[in-house]
Amino acid sequence: MAFVEFRDVSKIYQMGEVPVAAVRDMSFDIERGEFVVIVGPSGAGKTTLLNMLGGMDTATSGTIMLDGDRVSAYNKKQLTRYRRYDIGFVFQFYNLVQNLTARENVELASQICRDPLPADEVLAAVGLADRARNFPGQLSGGEQQRVAIARALAKNPKLLLCDEPTGALDYETGKAILKLLQDTCRQTGRTVVVVTHNSAFTAIANRVIHVREGSVAAVEVNPAPQSAEVLEW
Ligand SMILES: Nc1ncnc2c1ncn2[C@@H]1O[C@H](COP(=O)(O)OP(=O)(O)OP(=O)(O)O)[C@@H](O)[C@H]1O
Ligand SMILES: [Mg+2]
Repeated sequence: MAFVEFRDVSKIYQMGEVPVAAVRDMSFDIERGEFVVIVGPSGAGKTTLLNMLGGMDTATSGTIMLDGDRVSAYNKKQLTRYRRYDIGFVFQFYNLVQNLTARENVELASQICRDPLPADEVLAAVGLADRARNFPGQLSGGEQQRVAIARALAKNPKLLLCDEPTGALDYETGKAILKLLQDTCRQTGRTVVVVTHNSAFTAIANRVIHVREGSVAAVEVNPAPQSAEVLEW
């Protein structure tokens, strides 16, 4: 059994009278420790699928498994525990608490979970050891995204899910964030999933899931992914 399994997963939103299929019969696997890029145009269903995988949204039908557990059968309480303990989320616009320092933002996450990593350790791992006492407003966009990644990693999650993590950053900063995510995966064996519309990012992935109009168009497994530092787009 794969670490992550999506089997015939659909998500139908009811827009008044009209049903909208954001995701339709999606099936794919992800193996433990992989760096996965999910790529597709705007509206393809990327965020919808990531939110279902992260327990922020529920599937209308189909099966979602993580590490042998049937996430798609979870009730509300189980989903809360799942989001809290098993999932680290990184968003395009960081979503940091503005009146807490970098360290406090990270500690906030580690306080709610079972087996957290020390805040100073993860801040050092993302290259921000010396900015721990700064507030988000005193940090650049790239630094704020590093704090957000540290916050997600401090939870010691089974899965790190990133929705357009470089979307608000310039070229070089975006590349540095991709490198950090790839290094995290390579050095700690953590399973990392990055959603993007930028097809250049596929070169650095172990596995690429192409989505189009709510469906999986293709899955590629890449035996020799490029290093993020030599990536160009
Ligand atoms: N809560 C919702 N209610 C109704 N329709 C929705 C909802 N969320 C998403 N959709 C629709 O589902 C489709 C897929 O949306 P989704 O946000 O998953 O796309 P995306 O691939 O993440 O796009 P983008 O690259 O622009 O972020 C779109 O047509 C969208 O309008
Ligand atoms: Mg999206």
